[in-house]
Amino acid sequence: MSDAFPNLHILDHPLIQHKLTLARQTGISTNQFRRLLKEIALLMGYEITRELPIEHQTIETPLAQMDAPVILGKKVAIVSILRAGLGMASGLQELMPSAREGHIGLYRDHDTKRPVEYLIKLPEPEGRLFILVDPMVATGHSAVHGVDVLNRHGVPDANIRFMALVAAPEGVEVFQAAHPDVPLYAAALDDRLNEQAYIVPGLGDAGDRLFGTK
Ligand code: URA
Repeated sequence: MSDAFPNLHILDHPLIQHKLTLARQTGISTNQFRRLLKEIALLMGYEITRELPIEHQTIETPLAQMDAPVILGKKVAIVSILRAGLGMASGLQELMPSAREGHIGLYRDHDTKRPVEYLIKLPEPEGRLFILVDPMVATGHSAVHGVDVLNRHGVPDANIRFMALVAAPEGVEVFQAAHPDVPLYAAALDDRLNEQAYIVPGLGDAGDRLFGTK
């Protein structure tokens, strides 16, 4: 959390930072990039889910009966903003195999530069924590739009966490102004956006690097 961006949480665990440095570099393969994104998401997921409510159930171990902690209620939904969100969502799936999954497809309109929806598929909102995933918070418009979609679907801001890999100050500002109560988790806050709205230093186009496209 910082004074300027109270809803931004930079997860600066050494493993996350090391893997992000590897992922930023040119010259790594699609396979390596995909694997790094997944591993980083897995590590970040551990922190993002820290506050999931716990209840106790009576279980039998081979030696005794005990009251053991389990996650309470309907648990978690993982929602990827397509397509780069898929690369981090896969790490969260590995961590929480029974989580429901949703997808929000957005493309950027050529003229307005604003996100336009082309696919919305979401699990039942009731009682679930929604983790919305998009690696790059650049202008912040897709991130804001993703949360707006969840709100429209009946998910309050209080039940949403946003997971990114790299954020730009410009995007965090836009996101925070629109959804001040949604925590935004990222591995790094970079310097700025360039004229094409790429994050600098960033890592390039996350979707292209993830899927090996141009
Ligand atoms: N989307 C990306 O994939 N990379 C950026 O730097 C900005 C937006």
